[in-house]
Amino acid sequence: MKIGIIGLGFVGLSLTSVLASKGFNVVGIDVDEKKCKKISEGISPFFEPDLEKTLKNGLKKKLEIKSDFSLVRNCDLIFVTVGTPQNRTGAIDLSIIKKAIETLGKNIRKSKKHHTILVKSTVVPGTMKDVILPILENNSKKKAGRDFGLISNPEFLQESTAIRDTKFPHAVVLGGYKTKFMKNVEKFFSELHPKTPIIITNHQTAEMIKYANNSFLATKISFINQLSSICQKIPGANVDDIARTIGLDPRIGGLFLNAGPGYGGSCLPKDMRALIKFAKITGVTPTLLNAVEEVNTKQLDQIISITKKRLGNLSGKRITILGTAFKPNTDDIRDSIAIELIKKFLKRKVQVIVHDPRAIENTKNVFKDKINYGKSVKDAISGSQCVIIMTQWKQYEKLANNDFKQMRKKMVIDCRRILVDKELDVDYYAIGIGN
Ligand code: UGA
Repeated sequence: MKIGIIGLGFVGLSLTSVLASKGFNVVGIDVDEKKCKKISEGISPFFEPDLEKTLKNGLKKKLEIKSDFSLVRNCDLIFVTVGTPQNRTGAIDLSIIKKAIETLGKNIRKSKKHHTILVKSTVVPGTMKDVILPILENNSKKKAGRDFGLISNPEFLQESTAIRDTKFPHAVVLGGYKTKFMKNVEKFFSELHPKTPIIITNHQTAEMIKYANNSFLATKISFINQLSSICQKIPGANVDDIARTIGLDPRIGGLFLNAGPGYGGSCLPKDMRALIKFAKITGVTPTLLNAVEEVNTKQLDQIISITKKRLGNLSGKRITILGTAFKPNTDDIRDSIAIELIKKFLKRKVQVIVHDPRAIENTKNVFKDKINYGKSVKDAISGSQCVIIMTQWKQYEKLANNDFKQMRKKMVIDCRRILVDKELDVDYYAIGIGN
């Protein structure tokens, strides 16, 4: 069996590497030739723990990385993992996936194989039936269900644990018609992940499951963030003890109750906006989803209010941001709350200095010389009037009095409560801790 994977971002490259390392005959395809060259040399275009190791392992076996789409003709299973970003209005932008599907359709036109196409990209309900299927049938001149299989296969991996999540997913969702193609794919996944539940449903439900998953995670985060704001007004209250305790109730569950500056990244914010737009189109007023977004926006505003309250007019003030990656163990800054915060500070003429163990290159691409970059954490803190811990990198947990000695004004805003148990000789403010 040969497997093709179209689009080598986090999802596509993780899947390519894991399947190839398991010995499958895999071709990873991406339009970006430079990227393909790098990947075929065993270099990942982004930082993801264990990815390069898995990729290199795969490259020793039966893995090819190419920008040549015609290679899909030899593939039995073809995974589509291209991005579905948002447009200016927040709605889903299908242009990339439409183009990829059109090219795919043209390429399988003359092929004698009965391909199965699995779409992993996140798409709003109805997209598979109303957009992807017609493009495929028109361009391939073939019939879905008879000549080729078309299956929705949403992905749940998290950046920073992408390899582990690809190897051990919590569920496999297969959406589509109950054809011979579906049977074969079910067999493929039950052998690949023998212990993982497989949910077989229709396209629109599979599409909705992905949005349900991400919007529920965002809801959990906004819920705990809302509680953290209330805790801040109760002297001595601690949101982490609350989260830990309610998390022990199996009906609630302990994950995604870590209060912070709000959810960021390339998925939760975008998927929330797409679902809100989609709900409105269906005629449903997304009251709860709107509130989840509103709480998220307020988390960031709150950080600015705290700095203003303590520092007065922010113009000309020197503020250190620790962590620009949207979460630890990644160099990804897409829709990172820290990046939003820096933009807001720059509007207020703040002198910003940043540190991040992995994401500095990406941060430089956004801000160039508009901000300063600390060579070390100590260097970033020195001379500053306020330090804001945005990303929960392990190394920031080691910060102690000595590190804050060179500050012009000793003020720390700890958005992740990683220094809460330390005796610090600073004006300390933590999200979720009552003052
Ligand atoms: C998210 C989902 O968790 C994945 O299941 C999904 O597959 C993926 O989107 C996607 O749709 O592709 P990811 O974007 O990698 O994964 O990031 P998360 O780990 O979900 O974190 C998102 C944001 O929420 C981060 O800014 C993080 O700091 C924040 N967060 C997360 C909290 O503030 N508190 C928490 O308790 C958890």
